[in-house]
Amino acid sequence: MGKTIVIEPVTRIEGHAKVTIQLDDAGNVSDTRVNVVELRGFEKFCIGRPVEELPRIVTSICGVCPWSHHLASAKACDAVFGVEIPPAAKKLRQLANSIAFTEEHILHFYFLAGADFIMGPDADYSVRNVIGIAGKVPEVAKTVIRCRHLGAKMLEILSGKSIHPVAAVPGGFSKVLTSEERDMMIPMAKEVLELAKFSIDFARKNIFPQYIDAIKTLGVIKTGFLGTVKKDDGTLDLYDGVLRMMQPDGSYEDFTYEQYTDYIGEHIEPWTYMKFPYMKKAGKLSMDLNNPVGVYRTNTLARINVCDKIRTPLAQKELEEFRSEFGRPVQLTLLYNWARLIELLYNAEYAIQLLEDPEITSKDIRIPVKPRAARGIGCIEAPRGTLIHDYETDENGIVTNVNLIVGTTHNNAPINMSVKKTATDLIKDGNYDQGILNKVEMAIRAYDPCLSCATHNLDGRIAVKLDIMDASGGIIQTLQN
Ligand code: MG
Ligand code: NI
Repeated sequence: MGKTIVIEPVTRIEGHAKVTIQLDDAGNVSDTRVNVVELRGFEKFCIGRPVEELPRIVTSICGVCPWSHHLASAKACDAVFGVEIPPAAKKLRQLANSIAFTEEHILHFYFLAGADFIMGPDADYSVRNVIGIAGKVPEVAKTVIRCRHLGAKMLEILSGKSIHPVAAVPGGFSKVLTSEERDMMIPMAKEVLELAKFSIDFARKNIFPQYIDAIKTLGVIKTGFLGTVKKDDGTLDLYDGVLRMMQPDGSYEDFTYEQYTDYIGEHIEPWTYMKFPYMKKAGKLSMDLNNPVGVYRTNTLARINVCDKIRTPLAQKELEEFRSEFGRPVQLTLLYNWARLIELLYNAEYAIQLLEDPEITSKDIRIPVKPRAARGIGCIEAPRGTLIHDYETDENGIVTNVNLIVGTTHNNAPINMSVKKTATDLIKDGNYDQGILNKVEMAIRAYDPCLSCATHNLDGRIAVKLDIMDASGGIIQTLQN
């Protein structure tokens, strides 16, 4: 009988997961699974609500990614109502998105992934964490905390509250940014830019060279990539554009949000609440490490791979250097962390550009909307990948159908593959230690998964079983859907 290794909980990710690694009689890996042990179920309970309520309901999907859901939902509502929002409203939404990106990427680099690199992957777990980082580089830690605070503060100025926002509404944005508020935000944004510049510089000099062997091997798989680019010129765009699906050989096709079901299928496995999106045109999904079919990735590395250029100068320079060193598309999983720092820099620069745009304080930020029977698809890039909200309404604007594909969901198949690859490479003849198991987790962390966001599968299986018990513990009734 083989043995099962369980990593539970997987630490330094958002949400709850466990990894099971099945060893054969000889102590080598026969199979692995990333089990996601939570369920959100928003696709079902948004049904029956007035669609204009969804932008504020869906922020509760996740306390980490509320802005992403808020904005994707507002865009889906715009599409349902058939309106084009005023340019200043779009800029306010883009500004919120970019600030949220900087907060999230700082969080991931320093609090979640960074400990593995700054303290080392084999360091004792008691110091392999943000407290360890604070002890080792206290000045950096202080700046990091301050910039996280500034991000939250800027979102609060912009929208009234930083978490579970309500400012984006169907037809635009509900709160004007005054010139006084804009003037308060610019120095804050500049401080965040300084941290972004420092971070990529620090990582390039002190982190990545040290771990180049791990970067070249750990969890490496060969897949396609999905991300959003500006229509016609291929510029990285995190708020709006066309979806680009890149094949492992670098060839690609661009498609509109409305075409997403032609390109993306959603496969289901009975052992997880997370679906497995795959490239529909490739045929049946296969996660075979030697011959994967239909697997693609989203999130930072994917976006850096699919875009032709970046609209801000410092990030564009970083993109060119990254590409000249690693090529395009880059398959090395740990380089998600590097790509994340390029995006941190881009968003920090872009937030300043938007704040310095005179139109950002325009009062023309909202147009009226009217309910109608329609289908609307809203899509943005969330820090953790391409986020799709797809709504249908009846003639009163009541929601009749919802499909969500969340950034982390796209990465479900690749995360499972990277885990299997890492475990198979490192666990031999039954030998493993805590450092090796942490490297399995590092393969997951590279993708910065947010599992709270990503678990919506209720299709075709018993998802919930509820036992109603009397005072003595006897079951009175069992309910299941
Ligand atoms: Mg779905
Ligand atoms: Ni989330």
